[in-house]
Order: sequence, then C-alpha cells, then structure tokens
Amino acid sequence: MRAVIAPEPGGPEALQIVDRPELSPGRGELLVRVAGSAVNRADLLQRKGLYPPPEGATDVLGLEAAGAVAAVGDGVEGWSEGDGICAVLPGGGYAEQALVPAVVAMPLPPGLSPVEAAAVPEVFATAYDNVFRRGRLLAGETVLIHGGASGVGTATIQLAKRSGCRALVTAGSRERVDQCVELGADGGVVYRDDDWSKTVLEMTDGRGVDVVLDIVGGPYLRANLRCLATEGRLVIIGLMGGAKAEIDLSVLLSRRVAVMGSTLRARSTEEKAPLARRLVSDVWPGFGDRSLRPVIDRVLPLAAIAEAHTALEAGDVFGKIVLDIAG
Ligand SMILES: NC(=O)c1ccc[n+]([C@@H]2O[C@H](COP(=O)([O-])OP(=O)(O)OC[C@H]3O[C@@H](n4cnc5c(N)ncnc54)[C@H](OP(=O)(O)O)[C@@H]3O)[C@@H](O)[C@H]2O)c1
Repeated sequence: MRAVIAPEPGGPEALQIVDRPELSPGRGELLVRVAGSAVNRADLLQRKGLYPPPEGATDVLGLEAAGAVAAVGDGVEGWSEGDGICAVLPGGGYAEQALVPAVVAMPLPPGLSPVEAAAVPEVFATAYDNVFRRGRLLAGETVLIHGGASGVGTATIQLAKRSGCRALVTAGSRERVDQCVELGADGGVVYRDDDWSKTVLEMTDGRGVDVVLDIVGGPYLRANLRCLATEGRLVIIGLMGGAKAEIDLSVLLSRRVAVMGSTLRARSTEEKAPLARRLVSDVWPGFGDRSLRPVIDRVLPLAAIAEAHTALEAGDVFGKIVLDIAG
C-alpha cells in the first residue's frame, strides 16, 4: 500500500510516497481502507523532525483518517466490513490503509462523504475537548479563538455558535477575519496589529472574554491574561511562538483566572476513547442538522502531498486541506 513518510527532516520535498506492506488488524483493532486524510500543522513539525510520533506509533504521517472498514479484528463488536469510519490517529493517516483501535473509532458524521469526513476528527476533537470540556465554555459566554481561520479555529467558531456562545477571533489579515465572520464569528482582530488584546477588551466593553483558546504560547501569555474576564480560562493548545514566558501570578489570584493546556496526540487509546464517544453523541448531530460543516479549503490527491504541506506552511489556507487518498 502507498504511504507517506519523511525519512529525513526537511522541507516538503522530504516527504516520500513509499510502498509499505499491507496491514492486518490485531485484537481490538479495525483495518480501515482510507479514503481521505487531512493535513495538520503538527504534520509540518513532524516532517521537520520537531515532533516525533509517540512511542509505538507508525512513522507514516497523518493524524486523522476516514474511509471504510476493510477488516475487523478479534474481540471487536459493533463494526462490520464496509461501515463508514473515521478517527483521530497518533499517525498513519497519509496511507491507503490504517489501523484504528475500535474504542476510538467513530462513524462518519451524518451527511458527509468519507473524503469530507477526513477534515473533521482532529480539529473538532481538539476544539470540543479544549473549549468545552477543559475551558468549560457555557452558553452566553464569549470565547477568543486565536487563529480563527485555521483548521482548529474554523471548527471552534462553529461549535461555539452552535452552543449559543459569542466567538471572537484573531487572524493574520482583515480578509481572513471577514472569512471567519462569514462562518459565524461575531468579530475579530488582525493579530499583526500591535495591541490586539486592547481591541478584544473594547469588543467586550472592558469585561474581557470567558475563554481564550491559544495556539501561540509564550509571547501571548501576558496579553491573553489581560483580555480574560474575571473567572476566565486560558487553554493553550499550541506553542507556535514558543514555550517560555513569565507570568504575573497575582492575576490568577485577583481575577481568579485559570491557565491550562493539553495535547491530543500524546494521550493513550484509553484516554481518547471517552472523547470519541462524546464527539459522536454531542457533536455529530450538528453535521446532521447542518449547524456544523467541515471547512475544506481544497482537496488534493495523495501524490500532491508536498504541495499540501507547502500551502499550509505558506498560510493561504482557510480551514483544512484534505487528501484524497485514491485521487
Ligand atoms: N494540543 C492539541 O491537541 C492540538 C491539536 C490540533 C492542533 N493543535 C495546534 O493548534 C494550532 C492550529 O492547528 P491547525 O492544524 O488548525 O493549524 P493551521 O490550519 O495550520 O493554522 C495555523 C494558524 O495559526 C495562526 N497564527 C499564526 N501566528 C499567529 C499569531 N501570532 N497569532 C494568532 N494566530 C496565529 C494562523 O493565522 P493566519 O493564517 O490567519 O495568519 C493560522 O490560522 C497549531 O498550533 C497546532 O499545533 C493542537
């Protein structure tokens, strides 16, 4: 089967499509005939040698996949050959076949083709888990979403609006802010402007936001804390700007704010299983009633994987780049 690896760290040209042996499911696993995968920012880091796969995971890139069940491992119940399936993976999505532990396997979201569904698992799982479970965003509250035009950002905007929340975004240009507003965001600020936190405070009449979903890390810590409301929650899921910062702890005391973070990939299968169940029960109905949709900037064939990485790296993508594995 065809699969994509990055044998040596480097630019998009380091990606190679290789022939790998056919897979077969072990106990508790499903073999998936992959129709679609999608490109995530983390894949770019892995390709550069900066984000190695967790222990025991395949070296094939790709953090999500959607397709059909091709074979069912021993001990698996509730799945049959041919069923539509999608999942968050620790790796292995950029391939014609992938193995998925049955406990984290999800049916395709209603109304989506397998290729469209490939844009869903990673970003909707990340948004849902961090903003609602960790950040405890409630109806009527306001969330600030950094990188609103990103894969994670476009999922978060929709989830927030579906839950009756106000969604503010940051993005790299006015045009990208406008695209976020078209998707449902209530407003936004261009993060290249010197003082985006001041604008966010103005947009909330000085009150601040209840939750910040941050992907920048260290350089944004001070400004993130500044634009949090009393009892606000800062959830850090990316460190694009760096991991180190100095924090004024008195803010945590005086305004009772909380700072937290998480990653999805490093979690064990057992830790991921309840999240998969909650996505199917709480989020999947939104695809059925069309309050949610995958935001797909473009679909490229697996053969164009280097082009896909180049485009995401260049930042001219709104939402997701999906890989059509058979294309
Ligand atoms: N912890 C987890 O479990 C988890 C899971 C998935 C993703 N993530 C993280 O979430 C982030 C988004 O992932 P993705 O795959 O959705 O990425 P993506 O589609 O490649 O988007 C990256 C985004 O970062 C924005 N950005 C860059 N510099 C920024 C800054 N200084 N201030 C605000 N925004 C800035 C870009 O905005 P413009 O293009 O508008 O300039 C772009 O929207 C990444 O950091 C990724 O590592 C974490």
